[in-house]
Amino acid sequence: MTRTLRNALLGAAFGLALAAGPAGAATIKVGVIAPFSGPFAMFGKTFKEGIAQYQAEHGKTVGADTVEFVFRDLEQTNPAQAKALAQELIVKERVSFLAGFAFTPDAMAVAPLIDEANIPAVVFNAATSAITEKSPRFVRTSFTLWQNTVPLAEHMAKQGIKTAVTAVSDYGPGLDGEAAFKATFEKNGGKVADTIRMPLKSNDFAPFMQRIKDTGAEAVYAFLPAGPTTLAFAKAFADNGLKEKGVKLFGPGDITQEPDLPALGDAVLGMTTSFHYSRAHDSAVNKAFLAKHKELFGNDDNATFTTVGAYDGTHLIYQMIKNGGGKIDGAKAVESVKGLSWESPRGPVTIDPNSRHITQTIYLRTVEKVGNRLENVEKAAFEKQPDYGYKLAK
Ligand code: PHB
Repeated sequence: MTRTLRNALLGAAFGLALAAGPAGAATIKVGVIAPFSGPFAMFGKTFKEGIAQYQAEHGKTVGADTVEFVFRDLEQTNPAQAKALAQELIVKERVSFLAGFAFTPDAMAVAPLIDEANIPAVVFNAATSAITEKSPRFVRTSFTLWQNTVPLAEHMAKQGIKTAVTAVSDYGPGLDGEAAFKATFEKNGGKVADTIRMPLKSNDFAPFMQRIKDTGAEAVYAFLPAGPTTLAFAKAFADNGLKEKGVKLFGPGDITQEPDLPALGDAVLGMTTSFHYSRAHDSAVNKAFLAKHKELFGNDDNATFTTVGAYDGTHLIYQMIKNGGGKIDGAKAVESVKGLSWESPRGPVTIDPNSRHITQTIYLRTVEKVGNRLENVEKAAFEKQPDYGYKLAK
């Protein structure tokens, strides 16, 4: 860190103390970094809606303080820009928390800054296990690839599937998914015939479909970031005759996220995924969540895992502010939510005091028609799943 940045950060901390004023009432700012434009804008939109819904239900104040969210657009993954935005939010906007982060490399990039400035960062989506190892100030309310893939690979082996191929985007979460799948599937008697890594920016999946066909494997485990990538992959799987041929497609639920279901249509009908949130989750808390969502935004068409990641992440931020009694010390704030449990629209959750990742139920879901729309209908539940990937590489 440069001397200028260090001085600016010190100035920011001093400014925060002043902002508290004699009566103790302050505006506590949260800087949210996410894609709000471009092909992955659904992340930003759903984060914003999750935050807005939480604030509509719980108010914009905690004690005497007002909580204000400020948003910064990071269209595609870009660690250098993520770092610059975080720096600007800390120094100029004087945020007390960072949040958001759709993509792993962007979360990883801010680790040294949040440590230097002593600011907690709540990860609403990025899902590589190693993120929370990069700084003790990261807390995560999404999922990890290890957490979702272990139960899925066990299920596939139990179904009698003997050979599978992995097809993943070639970066952090994809590599975690590949490693988790291979280790678990092989431990359960399966064989991984090929491990296909696809460039993150691929949009033509036909050559990979041919490679899958050539292996003659019975099933595919796929991970790609949710959005145009998963949509194009699932379509290519159907369009290139793999679905017709009886090859079974599995993966974490990014590939059947609710906003994409209408466009995916028959391409994913009957597909089984593992995930932590489904709009079709049958609980009183989720029903109330969706009813409020409809009231605020007109419909619940886009209510999905990223909405809930942000909604629960906002809950954590509110708890950290409350626990500090108006004074925010980043390290202490994180400490104060270790072990915190609550019921989320996804089901019961706890912040693992060791990994600072969310322990939660992972569901096996099948895409089915419910009324006139497609839903991820839950078929089995695996309770209290930790991040199996935490510190595994060491
Ligand atoms: C990630 O980069 O960690 C990531 C991005 C999109 C997803 C899941 C994980 O859908």
